[in-house]
Amino acid sequence: MSPDEEKTKTNRVSAGPRTRHNAVYRWVVRHITEANGLSGKLLLLTILFVMLAEILTFVPSVANFRRNWLQERLTAAQIAALSAEAAPNRQVPKKLRDELLRTARVHAVALKRNNTRYLVLQAEMPERVDDHYDLRKTGWFELIKDALMVFVADDNRTILIQGRPSFSGGDFIEVVIDEKPLKKAMWQFAWNIALLSLLISTFTAALVYFALRALLVKPMQKLTNNMVSFSKHPEDRRQIIKPCARNDEIGTAERVLADMQKQLSGTLRQKNHLAALGLAVSKINHDLRNILANAQLISDRLGTIEDPTVQRLTPRLIGSLDRAIRLCSDTLHYGRAKENLPQPQQFALLPLVNEIALSIGLPVEGEIDWQTDIETDLQVYADHDQLYRVLANLIRNARQALDDYRLAQPFDRPLDFICVTASQQDGQTLIKIADSGPGIPAKASEHLFDAFQGSTRPQGSGLGLAIANEIIRAHGGTIELEAVSLAKESTAFIIKLPST
Ligand SMILES: Nc1ncnc2c1ncn2[C@@H]1O[C@H](COP(=O)(O)OP(=O)(O)O)[C@@H](O)[C@H]1O
Ligand SMILES: [Mg+2]
Repeated sequence: MSPDEEKTKTNRVSAGPRTRHNAVYRWVVRHITEANGLSGKLLLLTILFVMLAEILTFVPSVANFRRNWLQERLTAAQIAALSAEAAPNRQVPKKLRDELLRTARVHAVALKRNNTRYLVLQAEMPERVDDHYDLRKTGWFELIKDALMVFVADDNRTILIQGRPSFSGGDFIEVVIDEKPLKKAMWQFAWNIALLSLLISTFTAALVYFALRALLVKPMQKLTNNMVSFSKHPEDRRQIIKPCARNDEIGTAERVLADMQKQLSGTLRQKNHLAALGLAVSKINHDLRNILANAQLISDRLGTIEDPTVQRLTPRLIGSLDRAIRLCSDTLHYGRAKENLPQPQQFALLPLVNEIALSIGLPVEGEIDWQTDIETDLQVYADHDQLYRVLANLIRNARQALDDYRLAQPFDRPLDFICVTASQQDGQTLIKIADSGPGIPAKASEHLFDAFQGSTRPQGSGLGLAIANEIIRAHGGTIELEAVSLAKESTAFIIKLPST
């Protein structure tokens, strides 16, 4: 094997743990940064809070550990003292004394009994006692402070401890001990606790993290991902979120979002549909204008024929064609579905209404009577062409309703009527268009004045009343269905227009 090959092999062998290490590292980094840091923040916060809880329990437990340790020393010293007192004349041989003191790990023991304090056992005393603590009077705060001080105190301190004897062995017991073993035990204890805390916090943090991730972060990611993909293709119904069966806030959020998305994508599709329709209308309009212009030329020629009927009808034909061409041009010119601003003027209403009746073919002999109750000199203030369209739409609707109605019951139907009345009061002109037809169907009444929505007829577009409403509102007036008309025999629309 060449040195190069050997090198590659070594590299490959050592790449194993490093790759694994890198993978773990990448996993941690990904989880810390993913979901815009939500998972990461969650992980760090969980570890932080668990550590905080551990520290809060660590401080009192280390204080408790020190108190118990010292109390044990006192008990051991007391047993040693009792053994010494059992010796004849309380004379303890030096060897036994040293043994007793070493076993109890104290330098000296003193007892107080019946108000007399006396030294029971004493080895060679250290030169000085650095500090003394009375376990009988110390509160929790003091205990914690003393325990924490042990960690920072000098190594070779000698301390004196006073405490209550464990058995009824007198008023108090006093021992002198080295602090070093206590310090060592406390460090050991702290270390153990730290390790345990780390273990517990990692374990708890992992549990909390995975639980929250499954319960919150993942569903949130699903929501945000869906919002992002839906916002890119809002018309695509496949992008609408499929709500889960959860009953909590996440489930509600998903269901509400799904409803919103359905509504939005429906509206968008309708908008697209309308845009396409608008384009189609513009195209038709464009060519229709040319066709109408042709018809206008021909009708001009008709005017030269001397037949009295032709002479009577030609001006009306020319007027209708003029209006049609103007409508096409205006719509094309503005290129929008909105009506032009009205150009109001004063003119007599009756001739306009009669002209409309004629163009719609009213009256119909033996079927529909045509009635008007309008003063000859009653003037309205409106855009002539636009009011023509409004009234023509309403009167045509009435005629269509009556025709359909009569078709459904051809024999036993009395003479029907369409009646237009007008009056002026309080600076307003009121125009009422009534008929003796079937009334407005309930289905149509819900969206009567909304474009494309109110129609109930197979050939209808649902635009007539919407156009009428838009024009009348642009004049500062109102149009409404008379209250009694709903689901009643007969229909009446009332238009209110400002008189000036
Ligand atoms: N005078 C009327 N009598 C009965 N129904 C009417 C009358 N006027 C309007 N309607 C109802 O209102 C619907 C909407 O009318 P309209 O907006 O003009 O649309 P379209 O005539 O294209 O259907 C009609 O389809 C019809 O059902
Ligand atoms: Mg109509």
